[in-house]
Amino acid sequence: MLELRAVCAGYGTFQALFDVSLDVKAGEAVGVIGPNGAGKTTLMRAISGLIRPTSGSIRLEGTDLAATPSHRIVELGIAHVPESRRLFPRMTVEDNLRMGGFAPAARPKFRQQLDVVYELFPRLRERHRQLAGSMSGGEQQMCAIGRALMSAPRLLLLDEPSAGLAPVLVEQVFDLVKRIRAGGLTVLIVEQNVQQVLRVVNRAYLLKAGSIRATGSAAELLATDTIREAYLGV
Ligand SMILES: Nc1ncnc2c1ncn2[C@@H]1O[C@H](COP(=O)(O)OP(=O)(O)OP(=O)(O)O)[C@@H](O)[C@H]1O
Ligand SMILES: [Mg+2]
Repeated sequence: MLELRAVCAGYGTFQALFDVSLDVKAGEAVGVIGPNGAGKTTLMRAISGLIRPTSGSIRLEGTDLAATPSHRIVELGIAHVPESRRLFPRMTVEDNLRMGGFAPAARPKFRQQLDVVYELFPRLRERHRQLAGSMSGGEQQMCAIGRALMSAPRLLLLDEPSAGLAPVLVEQVFDLVKRIRAGGLTVLIVEQNVQQVLRVVNRAYLLKAGSIRATGSAAELLATDTIREAYLGV
């Protein structure tokens, strides 16, 4: 479904990604793990068109994303939940969700998608009139994911959905990811909670200093020394 080949990208003269190649097949959940500053967020931005690769190719079912404006990338079916969530704090939960379904292609399906999101996150239905900024951290993350789902995506990009949450909420976020997957959506997820993310993905990539250093199934990665030493302390 998604295919990256030798992608290089960065900011000005600073190069953050070096020849990154990665595949996500339809229906799969794939993880990207790696230390702070490894380039994980940069990778997500390059896929959703917020920054452009300086070389290499990014294809979604054959369509070259590097040559596609980012609003078109949303219409092609990629939704990105950014690291910082970026909700509109002074708008209600429902109005935030509405913003996610704003693309012309998504608008006619608004009611239907809203029901999908409310089925998935009953808490959002209960709180649909509450200002997003007054929701708890975990609820805000649900709202951010819900907003992304409003565009009825085929591929969901999640950038550290558990960041900044208390352990009990981290559990809830991974539970959400499991439920989203059960619905058949393809997911690419960046996480620092390595042990937990490896439980909800099929495969993962280890990104370090802008390069892919290891890849494999969750079990294979848990067995590699670099990951055990660096992330699990075992
Ligand atoms: N807007 C920017 N301008 C310049 N450099 C940037 C910018 N954003 C990120 N960088 C740099 O690019 C590198 C990769 O950053 P990135 O945010 O992709 O890392 P990350 O793996 O997501 O880290 P974290 O786990 O802390 O979120 C870092 O060295 C960072 O300082
Ligand atoms: Mg990041």
